[in-house]
Amino acid sequence: MAYSPSRRSFLVGAGAAAACLAPAARLHPAELAPATAAEAPARQLILVAAEREGRLLGPEGPASRLWTFGDALFPVIRMRRGERLQALLENRLAEHTSVHWHGVRVPNAQDGVPYMTQPPVQPGGTFRYDFTVPDTGTFFFHPHCDTSVQLGRGLAGILVVEGDETKPYAADRVLALKDWRLAPDGAWLPFTSDAAAARAGTFGTVRTVNGEAAPRIDLPAGRDARLRLVNLDPTRIGQLGIEGAEAAIIAIDGNAVSPVPLDTWRLGPAMRLDLAVRAPAPGKAATLMDYFAAQPVPLATLVGAGTAPGKRAAFDPPGLRLSDLPVPDLDRAEPIDLRFASASGGLARVSADADPLSGALLDSFCTAETTHWSINKRSWASRDHANVPPPLAQLTVGRSYRMKLGNETPQSHPVHIHGMTFRVLSSNKRDLPDHYADTVLLTPNERIEIAVKPTEPGDWMVHCHLIEHQETGMMGFFRVLA
Ligand code: C2O
Ligand code: CU
Repeated sequence: MAYSPSRRSFLVGAGAAAACLAPAARLHPAELAPATAAEAPARQLILVAAEREGRLLGPEGPASRLWTFGDALFPVIRMRRGERLQALLENRLAEHTSVHWHGVRVPNAQDGVPYMTQPPVQPGGTFRYDFTVPDTGTFFFHPHCDTSVQLGRGLAGILVVEGDETKPYAADRVLALKDWRLAPDGAWLPFTSDAAAARAGTFGTVRTVNGEAAPRIDLPAGRDARLRLVNLDPTRIGQLGIEGAEAAIIAIDGNAVSPVPLDTWRLGPAMRLDLAVRAPAPGKAATLMDYFAAQPVPLATLVGAGTAPGKRAAFDPPGLRLSDLPVPDLDRAEPIDLRFASASGGLARVSADADPLSGALLDSFCTAETTHWSINKRSWASRDHANVPPPLAQLTVGRSYRMKLGNETPQSHPVHIHGMTFRVLSSNKRDLPDHYADTVLLTPNERIEIAVKPTEPGDWMVHCHLIEHQETGMMGFFRVLA
């Protein structure tokens, strides 16, 4: 593992004190031996989803029962573009799960959406994921049913696909931002409430970076470091900035942008931001801040470590190479409108027998009891309504689409589309850099235009990544035809 959140505060896995947890005996999402020489070199990974103890309230604090994929909270998998990943998921939880590779342009069968792209992996069951990573960038992975609970307890990991640097940075760190719904004794508080799901969602009580409250992160003093910020929180939108050091945005959702000085950046759930930071002088500190609060919150301290380089050129961070993404043809693009609104109640009914998705209707882990939200006046099936909406739109591989995303609510919605990386063209409210993304934040009453050229056939989810919104109706799918 290239990563260990906090060895001190993170006692998990086979050696953990709590015998009652019966965690998996082996594991660490380990980098095992590469595959035989006969086939393309593949990265082998074992993800054992299980309950493990961890301390999120400080090294002396009480333990909490996390759900993780291995010994490390948020394991970081580093690969090279074009490498093949073979990941075996073993489910040792008491409920079904799966792995969705957020932002990675995988074939549809690898997308990890229970009932839509694969059967749910039942307790005791396994599933083999096998795909080649087509793009460089900062990605993550997480389950796709009962997500407010499974992700709420920590079930997620980071996938870094390297190969985009034109000049190496002196350091490359992942900063996984996530809050936790914890009582002072380390027990979980409810992950959702109906009232919160209808508004901005349920916020965590403990804010952490890499599972630690306001950690100290050492960076090579006076040199330029790359920070990969990943918002793993189900709910919280941050307005992130850095105090005490020069910083520039170099990638959004892992996709290169020509470096722009960082003022602040609004990072919704599931969104990523790669920063270049000129690390402070030896022993000096800078602070990663969240300004989206009455009182700005310091999230992490960046400390200059080691000796400073003799002479420092002015801060001018090297740009990254943009991955070989499908480029939509704006002149020939067909228009699609997506309106994000509250639930209308007018739901299209599909008979359970006639629809292959009907299994999802019977499964309370994948559908909510109540519906608060909709896309184009349709809500994702709720348990009560026993129906599945038809696709939001039918697309064709290789054609281009211009989509108008409109937010008709007073809440923000980080809108995510599976299986395709889109170009963000414009907003009616904000000056956004021209960039590629897989998740874009729609602030209240904002309209954003994107363009996309799908490359993989299949049914691809479209949803708000504020998980309680997703789970109460704000989800649909595109059917992409070959
Ligand atoms: Cu990260 Cu369907 O989501
Ligand atoms: Cu939302």
